[in-house]
Amino acid sequence: MKHKKVILDCDPGHDDAIAIIIAASKRSHLNILGITTVAGNVSVEKNTVNALKICELLDLDVPVYKGSQRPMVKRSEIAPEIHGETGMDGPALPEPMKTHEDQHAVDFIIETVKSSKGKVTLVPTGPLTNIAMALVKAPEIKNNIEEIVLMGGGTFGNWTPAAEFNIYVDAESAKVVFESGVPVTMFGLDVTHQVIADQRIQERYAKIDNGIADFVSELLVFFGEAYRDHFGFEGGPIHDACTAMYLLKPDLFEFKNVHVDIETKGEFTYGMTAVDLLGVTGSQPNTKFAESVNREEFWNIFEDILISYNKEQ
Ligand code: BDR
Ligand code: CA
Repeated sequence: MKHKKVILDCDPGHDDAIAIIIAASKRSHLNILGITTVAGNVSVEKNTVNALKICELLDLDVPVYKGSQRPMVKRSEIAPEIHGETGMDGPALPEPMKTHEDQHAVDFIIETVKSSKGKVTLVPTGPLTNIAMALVKAPEIKNNIEEIVLMGGGTFGNWTPAAEFNIYVDAESAKVVFESGVPVTMFGLDVTHQVIADQRIQERYAKIDNGIADFVSELLVFFGEAYRDHFGFEGGPIHDACTAMYLLKPDLFEFKNVHVDIETKGEFTYGMTAVDLLGVTGSQPNTKFAESVNREEFWNIFEDILISYNKEQ
């Protein structure tokens, strides 16, 4: 099978961690060229340590590059109420032996995309600062990007009534990305709230007997409690996992091609993704917008992936 080249750009993050686990599974047939980190759920330093910890747990030999310290224009905003002080509270992983590379994430993205023989897919699951910086610094990379598969936005918000966290944190960068002309596949809250890891799912995965499944179970317990306390949900929506699951099995999802604009000026709507579902703007679609997911299949495949880590380790 063809190995799709990907760069995972993230702020781990409980659900980012799950996205990495899915992408790194042998079943995904992805060629992960690197993991880049960005300021988001917590500081870029903490997110980078978490990425390194995940690589060690998975025995994943992929370089990790530390990226942008703060959003392009406004000051940083973080989400410890959802992800804890470390950004990945819950499971206790050892401090990593592995260190991040010296090169900055943005330069790694530019160099890697430029020099790649085949096109590269970028998979951002945090604020879009690194991706926007790369596109601004080296616009010529656009021709060698297959697709930007991102988690962000939606037709409603979770950070403000109008805005989802990843887009709100750096809406200016999101604007650069959505207006870049590179094909964008968007997993927003409309679809990610269809995969809530409730108690039934948590109990099901807790039965799988290997270190990766144990880690995921502990993530889901902490994340679920945070979502229960904060939003009254039955568990945590594993937002970022949708990106990796799509790369593995695109037909799990249903999409609509739409035009999306990013709001950067509104008093109450800063960071909103204005999703033109009815085509009222008359603007050309710039986004493949995920509307729904086959959730039973999603959970089944994720379970198979977790079980498969028994044999892979
Ligand atoms: C997004 O924000 C972060 O807290 C999650 O990791 C996810 O990427 C959901 O709004
Ligand atoms: Ca994230």
